[in-house]
Amino acid sequence: MSDFITINTPLDMHVHLREKDMLKKVVKYTSTNFAGALVMPNLVSPITTKEALMNYKNEIMKLTKGDNFEPYMTLFLRDDYSREFLEEVKDDILAIKLYPAGITTNSENGAKDLRSDKMMKVFTTMSDLGITLSVHGESNGFVMDREKEFLDFFDFCAKKFPKLKIIMEHITTKDSVDFLNKYDNVFATITLHHLLITLDDVAGDMLRPHLFCKPIAKRYEDRDALLEASLNNKKVMFGSDSAPHPIHKKEACGCAAGVFSSPIAIPKLTQIFDENNKLDSLNDFISLNAKKIYNLNPIEKKINLQKKAFIVPNKYDDVVVFCANEEIPWSII
Ligand code: DOR
Ligand code: ZN
Repeated sequence: MSDFITINTPLDMHVHLREKDMLKKVVKYTSTNFAGALVMPNLVSPITTKEALMNYKNEIMKLTKGDNFEPYMTLFLRDDYSREFLEEVKDDILAIKLYPAGITTNSENGAKDLRSDKMMKVFTTMSDLGITLSVHGESNGFVMDREKEFLDFFDFCAKKFPKLKIIMEHITTKDSVDFLNKYDNVFATITLHHLLITLDDVAGDMLRPHLFCKPIAKRYEDRDALLEASLNNKKVMFGSDSAPHPIHKKEACGCAAGVFSSPIAIPKLTQIFDENNKLDSLNDFISLNAKKIYNLNPIEKKINLQKKAFIVPNKYDDVVVFCANEEIPWSII
């Protein structure tokens, strides 16, 4: 294998770019490394109107001008979206994100009754209009069982709306990987951190707040299944779920959930695929699968890497980064 690799049009199909100062600090790590990214709508005041959507998109475009980067926008799901509204926004979004109420950062106004008549009406319209449903799939049960318990809803939804494209976001369990085989209209994103850590890393020894995220990292067999899927399964695509929080919100009593990985995601993924002798499949995971799943036609952008080690800094600004202070054998050149 050569010491150089080119990634063609990398896509991050799940990222939190935040707003205001934090947006200004972090957006460049996505816009310079990726050709496009699916931008999550869970701002302090979640994106639920066309005006907020367009303002947010314009702000991102302004900050990333010249980077050859396309932000793919999302709306925060509400059960009172009308057909008229969805027709009006459908060309400005790639997906609508379902957050169960209270399940994670800024999701207090998320969905309370996922199977209500109102919700069924919104799903029907989304299916008719070809709008993808992106889902944070966790129940409010015992933390290690939340994702598994939520599979029931995916089962119900995929069966009832066979034309609705459903994305299981940031899956963390073997059960979720296995579930992907069940329906043609169900796909998933996998993060970098869930390919590398288990609950042992988060809380087995000392508590590591910078590894605390939702869904929480699970067991070794789950991590193995995620890795195997990332290397081989065309129904999964890369979604970093990079979710920056300032250091004082992480190293706190009441630690915010989120791992910030955008600056190092591509070199670290390259390392993982290289160590598994799967560099040939890296472009599938990081670009091609997403293009097919979402029918995307992004602007071409090549990211070149060389097998040359670099040391990850501890922080970017006031955000501690995933793999802080580690050596990564591949660098972007
Ligand atoms: O760890 C997480 N952080 N998981 C999420 O689902 C949300 C995210 C955030 O916005 O901080
Ligand atoms: Zn997320």
